[in-house]
Amino acid sequence: MNIKSFLEKKKSGEPLTMLTAYDYIQTLWCCAAGIDSILVGDSLGNVVQGKGTTLNVSLDEMIYHTEIVARIARQKCDEKSRPVIVADMPFPFGHTGIEVAVAQAARVIKDTGCDAVKVETSWEDASLVSALVKAGIPVMAHIGLRPQQILNLGKFSIQKAEKALLKDAEAVTDAGAFSVVLECVDADLAGKITRQVAIPTIGIGSGVGCDGQILVITDVLGMNPEFVPKHARQYAHLAQTAIGAIKEYVSDVKERKFP
Ligand code: KIV
Repeated sequence: MNIKSFLEKKKSGEPLTMLTAYDYIQTLWCCAAGIDSILVGDSLGNVVQGKGTTLNVSLDEMIYHTEIVARIARQKCDEKSRPVIVADMPFPFGHTGIEVAVAQAARVIKDTGCDAVKVETSWEDASLVSALVKAGIPVMAHIGLRPQQILNLGKFSIQKAEKALLKDAEAVTDAGAFSVVLECVDADLAGKITRQVAIPTIGIGSGVGCDGQILVITDVLGMNPEFVPKHARQYAHLAQTAIGAIKEYVSDVKERKFP
């Protein structure tokens, strides 16, 4: 897979598959399962660091996790089907000047070997997307619900502002983004955006009408015993399996059955 394959998949109508991953083992699993693309999301603030929001994630932390994922994907994935590795740019990316943003994104590409960056954005910041693309940095835009705006938003909810979201999607397409994440966008509207823009849409909580889907790996695998978002589907229950296994180990050690 490469950036161009995203567009080819949109044209052919074959859905794009994406998951987040943050470490060595998760990347091995994604490669073995043949995923199209891995996002090293700033959701690592929630699901790796156990914080309530993504706001505290630093650029250095993004670089640390993305370097692991990109290196393991390069070493362990089959070359032809190697997933496209995308790094999330953390809060408050793009809001301290375009030059700073280009330098930060370039550092992520250089230090990690990833293929692209993801940027939470809107039509107002389309010039940032074009500056990154012009510098040679492929951009996955992220519109709809933008978790880095949580302090302004107050709460997470389904995004239905049709005119504004169509404007965002068209602006990031014109600015040169190679794809766009639609987070928690009303399903009918997400379908409309998908039909209207030339680049692939990747939905999360935005219905079946998108060109592809992304979920957070810990949700898909049922790794967090404390929280599952409404839009996620659990395909495994690793938390239960792990807790059961640890209990068995504890009891074996106590009863001198192990070693
Ligand atoms: O950080 C993340 O994992 C994301 C996805 C939910 C799209 O932005």
